[in-house]
Amino acid sequence: MADPDRMRVFPSAAAPAGELTVPGDKSVSHRAAMLAALADGTSILGNFLVSEDCLNTLHAVETLGAEVARQGTDVKISGLGGRFRAPLRELDMGNSGTGLRLLAGLLAGHPFVSTLTGDASLRSRPMRRIADPLAQMGCEAELLGENGCAPLRLRGGALRGIWYRLPMASAQVKSCVLLAGLYARGVTTAIEPLPTRDHTEIVLRRMGVPVETDGLRVSVEGSAGEPLALRCVQGIVPGDFSSAAFWIAGAAARPGAELTIRNVGLNPRRTALLDFLKRMGADIAVRPAPEPAEGEHGPWEPAGDIVVRGRALEGTETGGEEIPNLIDELPIVGVLGALAKGRTVIRDAAELRAKESDRIATLARGLTAFGVRVEEQPDGLTIHGGGRIRGGCEADSCGDHRIAMAMAILALFADQPVTIANVACIATSYPGFRDAFAALGGHTEP
Ligand code: S3P
Repeated sequence: MADPDRMRVFPSAAAPAGELTVPGDKSVSHRAAMLAALADGTSILGNFLVSEDCLNTLHAVETLGAEVARQGTDVKISGLGGRFRAPLRELDMGNSGTGLRLLAGLLAGHPFVSTLTGDASLRSRPMRRIADPLAQMGCEAELLGENGCAPLRLRGGALRGIWYRLPMASAQVKSCVLLAGLYARGVTTAIEPLPTRDHTEIVLRRMGVPVETDGLRVSVEGSAGEPLALRCVQGIVPGDFSSAAFWIAGAAARPGAELTIRNVGLNPRRTALLDFLKRMGADIAVRPAPEPAEGEHGPWEPAGDIVVRGRALEGTETGGEEIPNLIDELPIVGVLGALAKGRTVIRDAAELRAKESDRIATLARGLTAFGVRVEEQPDGLTIHGGGRIRGGCEADSCGDHRIAMAMAILALFADQPVTIANVACIATSYPGFRDAFAALGGHTEP
């Protein structure tokens, strides 16, 4: 019988053409679900991402007392008026670092015991980065796994606001601290080393919570343990830029391609791939969506269409401030490096080693399997691109969804079919990936 966790990809010289849409943004869907569950009244979220990760977040907020009704990608959440109920079982966040770390922030403000856990990948990722600031705020935060990993048991309650300088650029850690800060006494300030995605700040403001930003500092004022006052929301989650990235890259590197990806989130803290691709010589145009008519629900954050015309690309470099805004796209950046002529360098990206897999190592191994010359550094990779992409190999995603999808795109450019192992994980973030792949001319088996 065919193994559903392996996928054979056939090379294709066809240039992708036409239009497509991608599912809702994962980061926005997680945050909207958690905060809607705490709001006053009923929130309606359109184009919610119904992938495994976000479904786990919906299950978790149900376990915490919220009512959730779902029809396709429309999700209706009846909020709890500012406070969760004590959970009767562990909260299993599956594969999702965002789910676990953000919910931990909210739970730290609750005077009960809760335990957050996840799959083997999530239970191997660093959690001291959230347990430390939560403990400083006065929450008992115990890591039950080895080496500072989940399960994480929290006994929350009376928190005090803190001034917290993040040791790494991480939107998840920033969000965890700010969400705990909502329940603390006094002001909580997170100071980032570099700007990271600001979806938490945006959704909080939308729900009526003042969030102050001053350069790299973000502050919220806490409720001192009182239930939060959060306005329920209605809105449409924009398409996930990180899912669109696979098609943007696949089309940009294929001369003759002309592809439009519609209704993609264009939050500037997510779209550094477009700047990176332009430096490679890509032809990309962005058409922002018109403002919604009066009475219409607008998108949650800026959105629009991305038009890509394929061309021969040249290697370039990325590092520094660009990295947090490109962080989830670095697997596909590695693939672009293999397809572009010359040298592509990724530096300052040590955080990649703390993702769903050690993405520097899995990417280096994956590209090497295709015959691409790669040098691995502690904080990045150097890729020598433009040569033959050798098929006939097996590339292992190591259970990492973004590596699996990036390898599938590279396999289209190979000279023979390629087997990709461990592809079930794609469902954590992009359930319709295989259908979109087929619509763009990619043939896979089984
Ligand atoms: C995310 C933040 C990033 C990103 C992840 C989603 C978020 O993680 O890689 O996929 O939704 O806040 P870090 O905060 O660990 O960098």
